[in-house]
Amino acid sequence: MNQQRDFVLFGGSGDLAFRKLYPALWGLFRNGEFTAGDRIISVSRRRESDDTFRSRVGDALRASSNATDAVMLDQFLACVFSVDCDITSDEGWGPLRDRLAEESSRLRLFYVATPPSLFVPITEKLAAYDLSSGESRLIVEKPLGSDLKSGRAINAAMLKAFEERRIYRIDHYLGKETVQNLLALRFGNFFLDHLWNSTCIDHVQIAVTETIGVESRGSFYEETGALRDMVQNHMLQMLAFVAMEHPFSLAAEDIRDEKVKVLRALARPEQHEPTRIVAGQYSEGFISGEQVPGYRDEVPDGRAETFVAIRTYVQNQRWSGVPFYLRTGKRMREATATITVQFKPILHSMFSRGNDLPPIPNRLMIKLQPEEWIRLTIATKSRMSEQLELETTSLDLHLDRRKVARGYTAYERLLAAALRGDQTLFVREDEIETSWRWIDSVRDLWGRSGFAVAPYPAGSTGPTKADTLLHMEDREWLAY
Ligand code: BG6
Repeated sequence: MNQQRDFVLFGGSGDLAFRKLYPALWGLFRNGEFTAGDRIISVSRRRESDDTFRSRVGDALRASSNATDAVMLDQFLACVFSVDCDITSDEGWGPLRDRLAEESSRLRLFYVATPPSLFVPITEKLAAYDLSSGESRLIVEKPLGSDLKSGRAINAAMLKAFEERRIYRIDHYLGKETVQNLLALRFGNFFLDHLWNSTCIDHVQIAVTETIGVESRGSFYEETGALRDMVQNHMLQMLAFVAMEHPFSLAAEDIRDEKVKVLRALARPEQHEPTRIVAGQYSEGFISGEQVPGYRDEVPDGRAETFVAIRTYVQNQRWSGVPFYLRTGKRMREATATITVQFKPILHSMFSRGNDLPPIPNRLMIKLQPEEWIRLTIATKSRMSEQLELETTSLDLHLDRRKVARGYTAYERLLAAALRGDQTLFVREDEIETSWRWIDSVRDLWGRSGFAVAPYPAGSTGPTKADTLLHMEDREWLAY
């Protein structure tokens, strides 16, 4: 019989737990990957009976459309328990320890979904109460620090209590189906594999744009900004997947070894092919016809960047001279996440008379959201003309979830992997520290050169300076 599990959720009454974690665990319950013998123990300072808490979780799941099977939902809710624990005080830990001791042979997974200031105290207490021993696992989520120094301090505290092989650092972008598809595309297709280098690729763009603003997170955001909120983690992880060398296998260490090499090879602002960067901040504007406030209306005197556009390089043989452009922003015209690999145009065109080179060079676009698709643009003969003229055609691969027998959300996929003990989709200590080192180098540059944000109206495509960044190199942003 499989070992039963206790999924202990610090911050179990919080926003992340209700929006993402209970729905994901419920999804896994329906798939049979989380079972009636397992327990979810929510830890928070809210004094609530198990029944009251269960009904709150039940209401939240019913409000999301997929909780229609009432009998199954009741079985799931019977696995949910609430423990009141003030994690900062010693007295608070008694009830949690007692609840866990009831079933001491279980595999324990501790998920820390609290404000970051509690990460270190929680791991220290887990060690002090001997809850971190054996095979128990720790799952944590960003922000894992705000610079290299604080990132290292969090890693060090976690590693005192848990070995690296038992730590699961979540970057929810790695749970997205299409990010994983990058591995399949790159390493499962002979032709792409052979074209994936600076001889054939002109440049790469990675864009994550959102229409939402900072919402209720103004004070957090003011401390963080887009560079640390989005680039340090999601964007650099996607870049690493695009640029990594062949891993020996799909095993976690093989993949993470290759990713960290890419992060180490990223050009720093002071290096030979320097990183260029534009920071922006949204002002008031219109999104889908509705007027929305500016960042400084939401965060008075706010200084943080809500947009960044970056050009950088991966300094190795494969990518020599190929720019990687990253772009992310809030309150933009469209919400989209796309990775675009633009190939070089053909060198000698027979089609030049009366018709230029293929209008668009071959391009591979990988759309992560809101829809999931992969598109390869190729040149074909135009059917509108009897001359041999070219037009661009797309080969489209729609990866619509509804057509998949059992599609996972990002959190379902990640929690299922943590329950199985598979670290492939989680970020290793050295990846975190290497990305912070790079982010720090960009922030040092900002410090030296006088950091200033370029305003852009909400609902636009970002500051004009970001367009200039590409125009200077005869390129343009490809997907808004
Ligand atoms: C989070 C950031 O990590 O990712 C948020 O803190 C951002 O600011 C979010 O909105 C975007 O995630 P997704 O999956 O909605 O693209």
